[in-house]
Amino acid sequence: MKALILVGGFGTRLRPLTLSVPKPLVEFANKPMILHQIEALKAIGVTEVVLAINYQPEVMLNFLKEFEEKLGIKITCSQETEPLGTAGPLALARDKLIDNSGEPFFVLNSDVISEYPLKEMIEFHKSHGGEASIMVTKVDEPSKYGVVVMEEKTGKVERFVEKPKLFVGNKINAGIYLLNPAVLDRIELRPTSIEKEVFPKIAADNKLFAMVLPGFWMDIGQPRDYITGLRLYLDSLRKRYSTKLASGPNIVGNVLVDETAKIGEGCLIGPDVAIGPGCVVEAGVRLSRCTVMRGVRIKKHACVAGSIIGWHSTVGQWARVENMTILGEDVHVGDEIYSNGGVVLPHKEIKSSILKPEIVM
Ligand code: GDD
Ligand code: MG
Repeated sequence: MKALILVGGFGTRLRPLTLSVPKPLVEFANKPMILHQIEALKAIGVTEVVLAINYQPEVMLNFLKEFEEKLGIKITCSQETEPLGTAGPLALARDKLIDNSGEPFFVLNSDVISEYPLKEMIEFHKSHGGEASIMVTKVDEPSKYGVVVMEEKTGKVERFVEKPKLFVGNKINAGIYLLNPAVLDRIELRPTSIEKEVFPKIAADNKLFAMVLPGFWMDIGQPRDYITGLRLYLDSLRKRYSTKLASGPNIVGNVLVDETAKIGEGCLIGPDVAIGPGCVVEAGVRLSRCTVMRGVRIKKHACVAGSIIGWHSTVGQWARVENMTILGEDVHVGDEIYSNGGVVLPHKEIKSSILKPEIVM
């Protein structure tokens, strides 16, 4: 089986992290986002993944070379010269996606995280005999997604409305599809949207089916959702592989600590924290609801909450970093500094407090 991951886009909503690496390579729970997906695809028997990309393909391919071998899966790029939207890239990669087998193929948005119940999806796809299956999930705020109205019993999609202005329903497109090759005959090679131009037509032909995704789901392409997504992911990890989580007297709730990270005396860490490789967390530090990326140093008695600390940054002694502060790569926050929602571009030194949410360039 084959799969295509829609990788394009500049990831602007995840700046300043995406100023250093393409969005799919930003770590989530200590692993690049895209690896969560590639591993899940490999686990259900996908042999080739096509990355549909319009930005820095070399960076992606170089990075993934190592995993191609490790995971034993073929990874190729299909590069656009202009952004082709969410459907155009499928037309461009047509020859890579179809072979003689006539098998369906997976398509994934690159910024969604879940337990990837792909096996269940294959069963569902076989059972309904339509052209396309999509996963849906319930959310509180459906207007920023593609909303799906479906027949409860069969899953047949009656309407698909991308980013509706008026309330249509609360089941939304989770960005995980299984498509028959016939779908490609509906897509022209031009910038076009699968949500606006392709799904509504397949639904009108009664050939689009949706299954409600079991387990958690999150689009982690924005800082707030990234932090919420980490909580949901760690919750699910607790249920499935609790041994991967840290334990001990200074750990509260779900915490993931890379084995090469060092944690000092008297810290209190958790809940919902990920600490990456090579990090040094000095004595008396308090961390909650945050991600600390590779090579970071958090100095004595600092406190980090609800924030993301980018690669190789440092947080000074007694500093307080909170409320959706996002530090880019190699940022240095001085001793006793307070950051309330600062979004700091890479390679900066912060010498005075950031009192309200703002971008520091
Ligand atoms: N190759 C390529 N080229 N990929 C693209 C392009 C492009 O021109 N434009 C967007 N993508 C990729 C993005 O990188 C992402 O992986 C995916 O297509 C979806 O684009 P987003 O920009 O993240 O869309 P969204 O989050 O607003 O909405 C989409 O995802 C929601 C779920 O998170 C839609 O599919 C919604 O229907 C859905 O509910
Ligand atoms: Mg998205």
